[in-house]
Amino acid sequence: MKSVGIRSMGAAVPKKILSNQDLEKMVDTSDEWIVTRTGIRERRVLESHETINDLLVQAALTACEKSNISPGQLDFIINSTLSPDRISPAQAFEIGREIKAEKIFGFDINVACSGFVYGLAIAESLLKVRDVSYGLVTAGEQVTRMVDYTDRANCILFGDGATATVVTNDQPDHLIVATEMGSDPTLSNEVVIGGINDLLNDKSGYYFRQNGRSVFKFAVNKIKEMFEVVPRKAGIDSAKIRYVVPHQANIRIIEAAAKEITSNGTEFIVNVNKYGNTSSASIGLALNEAWNRFEKGDLVLLVGFGAGLSWGATLIEW
Ligand code: COA
Repeated sequence: MKSVGIRSMGAAVPKKILSNQDLEKMVDTSDEWIVTRTGIRERRVLESHETINDLLVQAALTACEKSNISPGQLDFIINSTLSPDRISPAQAFEIGREIKAEKIFGFDINVACSGFVYGLAIAESLLKVRDVSYGLVTAGEQVTRMVDYTDRANCILFGDGATATVVTNDQPDHLIVATEMGSDPTLSNEVVIGGINDLLNDKSGYYFRQNGRSVFKFAVNKIKEMFEVVPRKAGIDSAKIRYVVPHQANIRIIEAAAKEITSNGTEFIVNVNKYGNTSSASIGLALNEAWNRFEKGDLVLLVGFGAGLSWGATLIEW
């Protein structure tokens, strides 16, 4: 069976910053409340003339350039999103059109904040069993367009951003050693964003809503579980994991999970303070920022969790 790994990444965020101080002028909140409860200080927000495709194309071109391949060499694009520019065609094709990836097959997946790790797991499977060499896993989210800016509990949490990752079986630099995808559909009402029916009727049902406390506990447990289960699949002791790159939802979730994980020397990568929760783009934004800190042989665990409720993880040997 062919070895599969990631080779390079690109990332892009909007220029416009929405700080906690800005939010203080919009809703009844405070910088102190937001920082204490979430760790978020600012987030990036698309302006009305911008699209998520603009960011995805930027990220995709950077990722291809760093891998020294042309977009025409890509065999497929898997785009993770719960907030595409259009319902159809899939965002994957809009990216493909702009970067001139002329021979791709492609599709979008919607697994909310677990989407990037699901995308990597699907890409790995395709690269193992089909006659393909290069895939691009993109994640682009504009959740700020799906939150109600009069709802102080939720509007403080989100930002926009996009990432792209080249996954290949042709001299992969950073090997995917194990993956996991899971869900508990009985909890599908815990985190919800509305859709077509909500837009046709009362628009209030369209906006993001969640059972924050139960999602918090679920997330902490899933990070801890993935830390044990995923390395075990590859016969690796979890104590050997050097870095965890979790979905960047909330600093308190990350700190609570880190406390549960007793392994000495495991470091959690955090950048939620700068970008807020960017749903499926968040793990990639953190991974891309930390890229040069990793050394050959380091074990890096990516962990996603979110609506579904869903979870997933990718263990990479750097
Ligand atoms: N500013 C000031 N006060 C706020 C506020 C804000 N932005 N948002 C809520 N409050 C108030 C509430 O009205 C409530 O007041 P009350 O006690 O007078 O009723 C109080 O703060 C506590 O609200 P609560 O919702 O219970 O806060 P919490 O401690 O559970 O924190 C979250 C809320 C969302 C930060 C927390 O539940 C969380 O992080 N959950 C995980 C969610 C997550 O990351 N989801 C994404 C998964 S992908």
